[in-house]
Formats: sequence, structure tokens, C-alpha cells
Amino acid sequence: MASNRRGSVVLETRNLSMRFGGVTAVDNVDFELREGELRCLIGPNGAGKSTFFKCLTGQLRPTAGSILIQDKPMLGEPPCRIAQAGVGVKTQTPSLFNGLTAREHIALAVERHHGNDHARARTDEVIERFGLNDLAGRIVGQLAHGQRQRVEIAMVVAADPWLVLLDEPAAGMTHEEVDRMVALIRDINREATMIIVEHDMQFIRLIADLVTVFHQGAILIEDHVETVLNDPRVREVYLGA
Ligand SMILES: Nc1ncnc2c1ncn2[C@@H]1O[C@H](COP(=O)(O)OP(=O)(O)OP(=O)(O)O)[C@@H](O)[C@H]1O
Ligand SMILES: [Mg+2]
Repeated sequence: MASNRRGSVVLETRNLSMRFGGVTAVDNVDFELREGELRCLIGPNGAGKSTFFKCLTGQLRPTAGSILIQDKPMLGEPPCRIAQAGVGVKTQTPSLFNGLTAREHIALAVERHHGNDHARARTDEVIERFGLNDLAGRIVGQLAHGQRQRVEIAMVVAADPWLVLLDEPAAGMTHEEVDRMVALIRDINREATMIIVEHDMQFIRLIADLVTVFHQGAILIEDHVETVLNDPRVREVYLGA
């Protein structure tokens, strides 16, 4: 179990805030993540989950607060520096090129992070691990939604990150695809610490241990999955949304 091997704090935010004009998308967030965790972030639409991720990955510069990644201050660092520090992210919006094959995408990710050394072998390894053998030669524009998500996550893992952030990996998937994604995430979590944003409660129940609930930019509650899903405040923010 992830909870048995939870180690030291590897990611910490203090008073983290992100304002867009009059909108406070992330509001004074104190967050801690320990090595080996598979943390889930939930919360209604517009709660600030994706904005929180973008602050962590350098895509947005937070308006206040601090971010420590493995004890190093990272606030304001550009995305390439955060990626070099071993943080990988799958964003909510797709980042695939429809005209390229699945293999080309994974090869690009491998070469970007490892250079040309053993690029072919590493690419084959990732394709195998993600069960993409049969799809590797197809252009991603022709793949099903769940297959495309798998390619995106494979690209993230191709860089060997120690921390993996996934924004809605199961969105729009069939039951079968969700089951497959659950297995894949458990496999990734054997080597990497993870934070996953999801709306699919069935999926959350299957994978989650500790869950953090965002509401109006702030952390509403943080606890074990069953406690969180039975909390009246959580029901209320979802029903109110
Ligand atoms: N670039 C931006 N400019 C202005 N407002 C933004 C921007 N990005 C996000 N927001 C606002 O910040 C708030 C939080 O948005 P965010 O996308 O982080 O929510 P979310 O929890 O990821 O929602 P969802 O579950 O729908 O993906 C929303 O009110 C949104 O409209
Ligand atoms: Mg979002």
C-alpha cells in the first residue's frame, strides 16, 4: 500500500495564491505531498485544480506564496526547469499532434529528455509498458479517446519523472478504458509519486488513498477517500455546483 511507504515531504506550498484580475483561482493554499503518495485532487468545476497544477509546473507564475520541490524554492521557475527537476505533467487540454503517430510522439518525448542515446530502445520500452504495440504506427488523430490519453501519459513517463501530475486522465473514457487506466496508474505509482485531478468518483474510489478537495480556490477538506466522499460539505459543494 502507498500509505505504508509514505516518506518525507517532497512538495510543499505555503500560502499559494493565483489571482486573475478579480478572480482568486488559488486562494492561500498550504499543501504537502509525501514521497510515494498517490494523492487525488477533486472539487467542482472552477475550483482551481488545474490552476494549482499550472502554478506547480511553472506554466503560471503565482501571485503570492511559496513552492518547495524537494526542499528547493521553485516559485517563478520556468516549466523547463521544473521538468528538469523531474516533474512531469499531463495537462487537462490535449497536447498531441494529430498527424503524427503514437510512436513518433513517444520518440520525441524520449529524445527531448534523454537525447539520442538508446532512444530507440527506450521508445520501444515505453510503447511496450503502455500496451501501445498495436497502435504505435497509427496517427493519433485516428485513435480513440482512451488510447490518446494513454499516449499522452506515456510521453510524460518517457522522461522518467519522480513526480507525475495528471489532470483528468480518465475523463470521457469507457469503463474498460478506465479499468486499464487504473492499472496503469498503479504501475506508474510503483516508481513515482503522483497527484491526480479527477471528477470520476468511481475512478477515485478505485485508486485513492488521501484525497484533497478544492473549493473556490481553497482546500475544503483533506482526508482518506471514504471519509471525504461521505463528508456532507463535499456533497454540498458538488450539489451546489
Ligand atoms: N487564464 C485564466 N484567466 C482568467 N481566469 C482563469 C484563467 N484560468 C482559470 N481561470 C479561472 O480560475 C478559476 C479556476 O479555474 P480552474 O481551471 O483552475 O478550475 P478547475 O478546478 O480545474 O475546473 P475543472 O474541473 O472545470 O477543470 C475559474 O474561475 C476559472 O474561470
Ligand atoms: Mg481543470
